[in-house]
Amino acid sequence: MKLYCAEDYDAMSRKAANFISAQVIMKPDCVLGLATGSTPIGTYKQLIEKFNNGDLDFSQVKTANLDEYKGLTKDNDQSYYYFMHTNLFKHINIKEENTNIPNGMEPDAEKECKGYDKVIEELGGVDLQLLGLGHNGHIGFNEPDDSFAKGTHIVDLQESTIEANKRFFASADDVPRQAYTMGIKTIMMARKVLLIVSGADKAEILHKVICGPVTPQVPASILQMHNDVTVIADKAALSKFTQQELEQL
Ligand code: GLP
Repeated sequence: MKLYCAEDYDAMSRKAANFISAQVIMKPDCVLGLATGSTPIGTYKQLIEKFNNGDLDFSQVKTANLDEYKGLTKDNDQSYYYFMHTNLFKHINIKEENTNIPNGMEPDAEKECKGYDKVIEELGGVDLQLLGLGHNGHIGFNEPDDSFAKGTHIVDLQESTIEANKRFFASADDVPRQAYTMGIKTIMMARKVLLIVSGADKAEILHKVICGPVTPQVPASILQMHNDVTVIADKAALSKFTQQELEQL
């Protein structure tokens, strides 16, 4: 695991965008696994800036998003489809047909989950998976559980996740109770993983993820077993690490 400490959210976003840019430059037809949430917004802004400066070309890039709320239409401004188009896709030269997001409106969960795994398989797997981190250690919408989930599946969101995400909705009652998400196995099969974390409110969980035991109760802790993980976190998110722990990473 490689760990980069950034001064603040902006510096974290710049480093993450540089990391993703390197992937796109090295392999112009790469498959990017993308994430939503507030953490990657700055990274996406930086990527848009690089595109506008003529430094990046997304014309051959393909993407697969981690997750989507069940029951939200594409034009619902809280859907992850809407998020990705507003915060990234509509500002760059990516082809709509090269972007993939689970279909939250598919009522048949088995069909949607199998279909999404097939999409990722047909893409040839994910080259670089970008991840944010939930306060309970979730990645995508893989919530703490008794075992690690494998492929794409449907999840019941935990109260703490509903609580954390209600800031984007009119009220907690409007937050969907279920979501489709790539599984831990899918995430672990990505050739490279980039975890970005910002803020003091993530400090405790980030410390558990990196220094604690690997357990499905802290889903992101499985990343300790991946052979190519880069963590870019800001100082506030790294505030629970001792100097010695930081030097060992
Ligand atoms: C959501 C998303 C995750 C994201 C997490 C953290 O639950 N499904 O992919 O990493 O929230 O969000 P934030 O970056 O806003 O803290």
